[in-house]
Amino acid sequence: MELDVLLHKEELTREDLAALLGLTDPKDRQKLYQAAYAVKLKYIGNVDHYRGLLEFSNRCIKNCRYCGIRRDNMEAVRFDTPREEILEMAQWAYEQRYGSLTLQSGERQDPEFIDYVEGLLREIKKIGKGTLGITLCVGEQTEATYRRWFEAGAHRYLLRIETSNPMLYARLHPRDGHHEWTVRRDCLKALKRIGYQVGTGDMIGLPGQTLEDLADDILFYREMGIDMIGMGPYVVHHNTPIGKEVMAAGGDCPEARQRRFILGLNMIAVTRLFLKDVNIASTTALQALNPLGRELGLLAGANILMPIVTLPRFRPQYLLYDGKPCVEDTPDQCKNCLASRVASVGDRVGFGEWGDSPHYFASHPKE
Ligand code: 5AD
Ligand code: SF4
Repeated sequence: MELDVLLHKEELTREDLAALLGLTDPKDRQKLYQAAYAVKLKYIGNVDHYRGLLEFSNRCIKNCRYCGIRRDNMEAVRFDTPREEILEMAQWAYEQRYGSLTLQSGERQDPEFIDYVEGLLREIKKIGKGTLGITLCVGEQTEATYRRWFEAGAHRYLLRIETSNPMLYARLHPRDGHHEWTVRRDCLKALKRIGYQVGTGDMIGLPGQTLEDLADDILFYREMGIDMIGMGPYVVHHNTPIGKEVMAAGGDCPEARQRRFILGLNMIAVTRLFLKDVNIASTTALQALNPLGRELGLLAGANILMPIVTLPRFRPQYLLYDGKPCVEDTPDQCKNCLASRVASVGDRVGFGEWGDSPHYFASHPKE
C-alpha cells in the first residue's frame, strides 16, 4: 500500500504496523516521523515533561540474560543510596519543578525492602505538600505490596513487559521459575486494578525478534489499556549471556547498532500513530546508540524525558548496558542538557506539572 495512504488510515492492522515499523528509506521514515509528530501536536501539544530518574540501588534478585546488573554479573559493584540522600534528591527534583520523580532499582521482594519503600514514599509525599508526583519502577511484586505502595503515595508504576511474545521472553530470561511472562502480565493487570497509571514497554531489536513481534507489542499496549510507554533499543552489555551471543555473531557492529536505533525511532512513531494520547518516553538507550537519539525520539512522537537524578558517585554502578550516556554528569548538568535538547526541536518543558497521560483521564474521568 502507498505510504501516504497507510499513514492516514483510520485503523491500522497488524500487517500495517509491521510494514511501517520496517521502513528504512530516509524519506519514508521522515514522512512517518512527521505524521507521528503531528499526532503528538494534536493530542499532547509541543510540550514535553520531565520525570527525574533516581536509580537508588542496583541490587537485583533477577537474572535477566541481557541486563548488566543481573544477579550473576560479579563485575557489578552493588550499592544502596542512603535514605537521607534519596530524600535530598527528591527535594532537589521538587525544587527544580520536575513535577514528578521516578524511583527505580533492581528487583527485591523481601519484607525489609517493601517496608523501606513504603516509608520512603510517605516521606517523599511530605515534600511540597504532596505535589511531587511519584512513579515506582521496582519490578514484580504481589498485589498486596502494590496496594500498600499506592496507599503510601505512589500513583504511577512502570514495569516493562520486555516483549509481548512469551517464547521470546523465555529465551531472554533463565528458566528457573522466577522469570515468567504470565506473572509479568498479571502484575500489569494488578497495577491497573489498583488504580495506578501504568507504564510498560519493550526492548527493540532483540536477537530473534521480528517486526510482527514489535507490532504485537503495540497491540499489547492497547489491549492492556496502558497509559505510559517506556521503550528503547536493546544495547549490548559485554558481560551478559545475550550480549556475548550478539557480539559473537557480529551483531554489535555499527550497522547493527544503527538498525536497532532506527527500529527504536520507528517504534516510537508507530506507537504514537496508533495509540495517540499516551505518554511515550524518549529513553537514554536511544542516546546510547546516537548522540542525538533523544531529540530524534521527541520528533518521532515521544513526549517524556527522564533526566537522571541518581547521585554521580553511583552512576557508574547502574550500567544496564554498555555506553550508557550521562554517567559522568551531575543532576544539574542533566537538567540543563535536556532543556537545550527540548528547545532544539522546538518543544517546551512543562515545568512543575505532573504531565499525566491524557489517556489515563480519558479512561478515568476526573470527578
Ligand atoms: N539494553 C537495553 N535495555 C535494557 N534494559 C535492561 N538491559 C538492557 C539492555 N541491555 C532495560 C529493560 C528493563 C529496564 C529497566 O532496562 O527493559 O526493564
Ligand atoms: Fe534486574 Fe531489571 Fe536488570 Fe532484570 S532488567 S536483571 S529485573 S534490573
